[in-house]
Amino acid sequence: MKNISKILFLLLLFASCKKDELKQNNDFPLEIPKGFPKPFIPENNQPTAERIEFGKKLFFDPILSRDSTISCSSCHFTDKKFTDGLAISIGIDNRLGIRNAPTLLNVAYLPTMFWDGGVPNLEQQVLAPIESHFEMDFNLPDVVKRLNTIEEYKTLSLKAYNQLPSIFSITRAIACFERTLYTGKSKYDDFTYYNNKNAFSDAELRGMELFFGEEGDCFHCHGTFLFTDNSFQNNGIYEFYSDSGRARITLNQDDVGLFKVPSLRNCEKTAPYMHDGSFETLEEVIEHYNSGGKNHPNQSSILRPLFLSQKDKSDLVAFLKTLTDEK
Ligand code: HEC
Ligand code: HEC
Repeated sequence: MKNISKILFLLLLFASCKKDELKQNNDFPLEIPKGFPKPFIPENNQPTAERIEFGKKLFFDPILSRDSTISCSSCHFTDKKFTDGLAISIGIDNRLGIRNAPTLLNVAYLPTMFWDGGVPNLEQQVLAPIESHFEMDFNLPDVVKRLNTIEEYKTLSLKAYNQLPSIFSITRAIACFERTLYTGKSKYDDFTYYNNKNAFSDAELRGMELFFGEEGDCFHCHGTFLFTDNSFQNNGIYEFYSDSGRARITLNQDDVGLFKVPSLRNCEKTAPYMHDGSFETLEEVIEHYNSGGKNHPNQSSILRPLFLSQKDKSDLVAFLKTLTDEK
């Protein structure tokens, strides 16, 4: 009996070391975390090693900004889970933007970009920061000119897309790189997808029950493998919203104060929280949900006072921390 459980244990261990690989047309493997579905990848921008290399170099290069001081990674830091740790991002000439920088991990799964869902895909998203007055304050024709003066970029673009640096190749390459960014190796994944039922402490288990049960009621909006259902919701953080959120795109009054439900993976590491960074800690966030919200007319009817005990609150926080990727 003892031996059998040892073998089972070893099998499990072995299974958890094996990488789930998704083979693309050209045999370039994307490392999709175990238990995750295949992300949507546009037919005309399949990943190759050359495309990813080109995109990665662009992502970390301040050359994309007017005065060559700001790169994508100035606001999406690799060591902050691709966020910047600020309530509101700061761009070129220390200009203060309007929103909090979301993580780019698992961004391949998102059906829309930005807190208001204003951009439909990663390729098109690239234009926004380059041309934004608050971020890079530059423009694509000038970026293209600049890159065409640099031998290394000319070679990279030719190898990746069979053409010199162009708006086409730059936007696609960065999107290709972003589709290599996943996070799915947390204690939660260990528990759920690697079947390690001893991974959780009692507090974490209780926290999970609260999260996925009616008592804490987080799962209605955050209940998927990504911890977002990708919908737009008003989660009641204000009585009056200075940023109208989804309504900026739809111009519909019923969408005022609705924002894209963010993924909660790595939320331990991505403070401050919400579209404007208005909550500094997870404890504050839980306190907010416990209160039932500020009752804006568009507030989701799911929100209501939860009457959680101190222990419930700390167990919920303990569960949220199991979503932190080990890397
Ligand atoms: C000055 C800081 C800053 C820079 C530079 C910047 N970003 Fe962002 N990024 C943000 C902020 C803030 C948001 C959220 C904006 C919004 O929702 O309106 C964002 C959102 C995004 C999103 C959407 C994510 C989601 O969950 O909806 C992607 C993708 C992204 N940025 C990629 C990039 C790329 C690629 C570059 C470089 C070409 C870049 N960013 C440069 C601050 C920045
Ligand atoms: C009605 C849908 C809904 C429910 C229910 C809900 N949330 Fe949210 N959550 C959201 C939305 C929408 C945002 C972003 C709001 C904004 O930025 O203005 C958010 C943001 C968050 C954030 C901040 C993440 C970040 O990166 O900024 C955390 C943490 C969070 N929710 C945890 C929870 C927990 C824990 C529960 C259960 C107690 C819960 N949520 C219930 C919709 C919901």
